[in-house]
This record gives sequence, structure tokens and C-alpha cells, in this order.
Amino acid sequence: MTVSPSPHSSLPAASVAEVRTALLKRAARAAMDYLEDEDARSVAPRPEAVAALSALRGPLPPGPTSPETVLHLLDTYGSPATVAKTGGRNFGFVNGGCLPAALAASWLVSTWDQNAALFVQSPTAVTLEEVALEWVRELLGLPKGTGGAVVTGATMANFTALAAARHALLTRAGWNVEADGLFGAPPITVVVSEEVHASVLKALGLLGLGRNRVVRVPVDGQGRMRADALPQLDERTILCLQAGNVNTGAFDPAAAICPVARAAGAWIHVDGAFGLWASVSPEYRHWTKGFEQADSWATDGHKWPNIGYDCGIALVREAKALREAMSIQASYLVLGEHREPSDYNPELSRRARGVELWAGLRSLGRSGMAEIVELTSSHARRFAEELRAAGFQVLNDVVINQVLVSFGTAEKTLRTIARIQAEGTCWCGSTVWQGHTAMRISVSSWATTAEDVERSLAAMLNAAKE
Ligand SMILES: Cc1ncc(COP(=O)(O)O)c(C=O)c1O
Repeated sequence: MTVSPSPHSSLPAASVAEVRTALLKRAARAAMDYLEDEDARSVAPRPEAVAALSALRGPLPPGPTSPETVLHLLDTYGSPATVAKTGGRNFGFVNGGCLPAALAASWLVSTWDQNAALFVQSPTAVTLEEVALEWVRELLGLPKGTGGAVVTGATMANFTALAAARHALLTRAGWNVEADGLFGAPPITVVVSEEVHASVLKALGLLGLGRNRVVRVPVDGQGRMRADALPQLDERTILCLQAGNVNTGAFDPAAAICPVARAAGAWIHVDGAFGLWASVSPEYRHWTKGFEQADSWATDGHKWPNIGYDCGIALVREAKALREAMSIQASYLVLGEHREPSDYNPELSRRARGVELWAGLRSLGRSGMAEIVELTSSHARRFAEELRAAGFQVLNDVVINQVLVSFGTAEKTLRTIARIQAEGTCWCGSTVWQGHTAMRISVSSWATTAEDVERSLAAMLNAAKE
């Protein structure tokens, strides 16, 4: 029996092209309708919409479904149950938006369907990724010659950079970790702060360095690593610093810590998922002072730069260490004289996500990136001022785009958050900050306007009424 690969496999080639064009126009229309509707949409999807997703369940049909029907199902049931991220009132997690140029690039990237593993598979994807990595390095003020990888997010960026750290430290100790693994290897100490992001611990676990096998340095009231509490460091130590705490936005005091760590020969890694981008703004750059002395950095394109999911970036001062940790060889993988992405990141076949990074950064330029940092941070300050003026406690120093607010007791705060989420004007999540239950407001989207802030504040204050 032959299996029909698609409902159109029996059509002549010209008709296939026509059907495909018609389908893509419908998809583009559906996408634009979705965007035009963003202002009216509840940020959290309505429970009825989530329940209606059951229409997309069920067994795989024995035969084909027309692409038009597939698209119709997706738009009818999928679109209403999405979380509204394209507008400016989603303040959950650290959710960037997606810049128009990055979105348009993403449509093209999906159409091109390039494999960004090797230059020979996509000169466009590999060239643009290389250019984008260089732009990121420059924007973040990192040393020339730094190597990089475009990955799916900061978790994988932490993983990738820490794999380079593991490689470098063990190579110095005469051990080839890629060839021989970790059993019997000389021990490495990993130093993190009490406020290390969970993704760094996950990366350490994946690398065999252990989520719990870390030395934790105490932090201050903003979650900054205490420079006066650093343990003894040496050339077998990876020290993980943080630029931008997920709750408070605070930065570890890199200018005080890095010279000490460098003198001791430790490898300094920076988790700067969003905070590192503050270095693009003359107004906020001072927070990132000292982080340029590190050996590796992890950051996200899909947070502050608003590149859209998924886009993370790993950067390693000693490009050779990254390459030696990540390279892959096989007789059929034809390598040219170009930088081959598969030699710098954990994946082989991969989406050409560097193209969206290139497009988003090209559309912003340096001043556009600085403007996102400055505008979102000023929106965060406005939230803090108004909530404070209304009698609520802001738990952090609002240094960049993160605000933590308590509405009173833990119960009242959680109740208020639930009401805000259910009402739908905006969306904020909860956290526990140094023993206090709080609401997190993360202003990370290019799309957030002053009007969005005022509408959201009104919804928050209303929800906080008993
Ligand atoms: C400081 C920090 N590190 C790492 C991450 C993980 O990033 P991703 O979800 O892109 O993997 C986050 C996410 O918010 C973060 O704030």
C-alpha cells in the first residue's frame, strides 16, 4: 500500500503551488487578525477557551486532513487559548514581546526551513548568526574575539557556557572531559549565590557537576552576592555571578568580585538572562560594571531585546574552549573554512534562529535597544510609585524593570494576584522574596505603553480592594 503524503499529492504541481499560496495568505490573515485583536483580549485566556482545546485532542486520524482544515482548527481553538503576549500588559515571568522585524523574519525563516548546523546547509543562516553574535558582543561591551552560540534560551546558554568552563578547567588539570567523562576526573568546585537562578542549577546538573554540589554565597537584602562572604577561590573553581535577579533585578557586585576571582584563576560565569542588556543604556550601564571581566556569559534574545521565542545566547571569552566543548565530527559532515554553528552549540540540526536575532537587532540599532531598557525601567518605576502611594509595600529597590509588591498578608497578596489574572487586563505572577509573598511585575516588552501601565495599575488597585 502506498501512503498519500498529503491531501494534495495527486494535484499537478501548479495547483499545489496555488493551494499553498492560498493557505499561507489565510495564515497571514489569521496572524494579523490575532495581532489586531490584542487590545481587546484578556491576557490570560478565558477558562472556556482553555476547555475548548479538547477539540484538538483525540486519536490521530487514519488519513490526511486538508491543510485548510488544520489551519482552521488551530486558529479557532488554538488562538483563543493563547496567553496574550503581543500586547503590552503581560508582566509575568520575564516575558519580552516580539519586535515586528523579528516576527516578519520568523515568517521568512519558517518558509526557508534552513538547517543552521553548517554553512553548506545555509549560508544565509550561518552568516546572519555570525553577524548577530558579533552585534550582541559589541552591545554587551564584551571582549573582541569572544566566541558565541545562539541557543534556545538562557537555560541552554548557561549550559553551553558552563560546558566550556568545565572543559577549560579540566583541560588545565590534564583531563579530557569530552572524551573521558567525569568519573575519576579532578574535582571542580562550583560557587553560586543563594539567589542563583534555577536554570544555572539545572545546567550544572546536566553537566554532571550537580545541582546540589555547589558552594552557596550569602546575599544581601536585594539578592546580591556578598563580596565579603566569598569563599576561597582557585583555578579549579567556577564562580557563577548574576546580572539581573529574576525577582528584584539586582546585580551582583561584579566590579568588586571579578578582580579577586581572576587573580585566583577561577572561571567566572555570568547568568545575565536579561540584566546584561542594561549595559546598552548610558543611564543603566553602571549596574553592569565589572561583568565584562568574566570568562563566559549567558543571555536571552527573547527577554529584553524582544526577539521572540526561542532565542538565547552563550558567549565565551576563549572561543577555543567553547569550540572544543561543543565540536562534532563525522565523515559526512562536510566542513568548510567558515564558522560552523554545530561546532559551537549543543545541537546539530537546528532552526535558523540567528536570523530573527539579526533582524530584531538590525531594526533596533544600539539606540533602539537602549530605549527598550530605559522605557521598560521607567514603566517599572511608575508601577512602584503608584503602588507605594496606594499604601502597598514595594519590596525591592527598583533598579531596572522588575518590581516586587506585597498587598499585605500572603493570603491577601495571593488573592489579589488571582483576581488580577482572572480579570484579564494584565497578568502578573507571584513569588516568595526572602520569606515575603509578593507579586512580580516584570516590564520587558517593547509594546508596553504608558497607557498600558495606567490601565494595569487601575486593574491592580481595583483587585486589591477588599
Ligand atoms: C536570571 C535568569 N537566568 C536564567 C533564566 C532562564 O531563561 P530561559 O527561560 O530563557 O531559559 C531566567 C528566566 O527568567 C532568568 O531570569
